[in-house]
Amino acid sequence: MTDLLIRDLAQAATPGGNAGPLRGPALRDVRVVEDAFVLCRDGVIAAVGPMRELPADVGTPEEIDGRGLAAIPGLVDCHTHACFAGDRVNEFSLRAGGASYEELHAAGGGILSTVRSTRAAGEDELTAITLRHRSWLRAHGTTTFEAKSGYGLDHDTELAQLRAIRAAGGIPTWLGAHTVPPEFEDADTYLDFLLAEVLPEAAGLAEAADVFLERGSFDAGQARRYLEACRDAGLALRLHGDQFTESGAIGLAIELGARSVDHLEATGPAGVEQLGASAVTGVLLPASALFLARPMPPARALADAGALVAVATDFNPGSAFCDSMPLVLSLACTQLKLAPEEALVAATANAAHVLGRADRIGRLRPGFAADVVLLDASDWRHVAYHLGGDVVHTVVESGAVTFRRTA
Ligand code: NIG
Ligand code: FE
Repeated sequence: MTDLLIRDLAQAATPGGNAGPLRGPALRDVRVVEDAFVLCRDGVIAAVGPMRELPADVGTPEEIDGRGLAAIPGLVDCHTHACFAGDRVNEFSLRAGGASYEELHAAGGGILSTVRSTRAAGEDELTAITLRHRSWLRAHGTTTFEAKSGYGLDHDTELAQLRAIRAAGGIPTWLGAHTVPPEFEDADTYLDFLLAEVLPEAAGLAEAADVFLERGSFDAGQARRYLEACRDAGLALRLHGDQFTESGAIGLAIELGARSVDHLEATGPAGVEQLGASAVTGVLLPASALFLARPMPPARALADAGALVAVATDFNPGSAFCDSMPLVLSLACTQLKLAPEEALVAATANAAHVLGRADRIGRLRPGFAADVVLLDASDWRHVAYHLGGDVVHTVVESGAVTFRRTA
């Protein structure tokens, strides 16, 4: 593998710390090196520092001229539903006319409409679609993405989704408990089926399990049953919780030692305090709140309470047709009131922690994967400042250029 030297960068910015997530005052711990280089060797970062400290014996690596650019770690999108067929643009129009997301769901549209199109697609098509979505994410600086199943809700399609996500380079999460498909009369009967017929194989394909704990999908008792079985099968745990109603997701996540509870738009002060004192990461999805015109999650209060927080797109066809982590960073600063430093940590080191990879990705640090985003700006904060802008100049994954903006 060729070595890569990114030289003469205006800045290189990275979360501080060694390998874990950052919280409390350390959530702002971003280290900035001016006039910097990043040296990549065998797919990992060999050294980062000021140009004056560039080792004399670097050999003859391939070089990138970083003048006028700022480097940050590759962005980590730790919550997406990137494996789906079809779209929901008709529902988008209906919502613009006043229909609500929950009404469309209750009428058999919403998630179930994407289930119909995803079931109709074959596994090869799902892989091709997920690869296409990966290229969209990458063009916005995402170098690691998680993606959930949850649009099959039957044995074959759930497993096909997990394999497609893996084949497309994503980190698969089993969201069998997304909602109850029409073939089942209630959530309990559907869970009987999921745990007996799908979990044994899903456990070998996914890294984590996720559940939509919300009225109209699964209640806390049902979520507990699903998550306990998934934990016993060796999966890490995640929850979609407090999106529309506070329904016990935070307490359950803490009790079961889940990695994260995601959404939190409806979380009140008690939940903030509870999460702040826990080891569970709150994953904030401001693009979803924006897309559905819902209240933003109490991110500032969570950060001030010392909670572990991460941010992600929630990329999906219904509640967040958004593939841009830089847009999420903009929303994190303008709507969630996080400092740019906090937003960057939440989108890199802390998001990596949610995926169990904080020792390998999310920092510009020797020994970490050489996943680097070069921003078309000399100050790294433009990643959040440039609202909806074309801020990503070049993307490097494992030491190789995978995206370069044209013109
Ligand atoms: O995270 N809330 C549940 N699930 C997804 C949306 C899925 C969909 O609408 O297709 C979410 O918002
Ligand atoms: Fe989601």
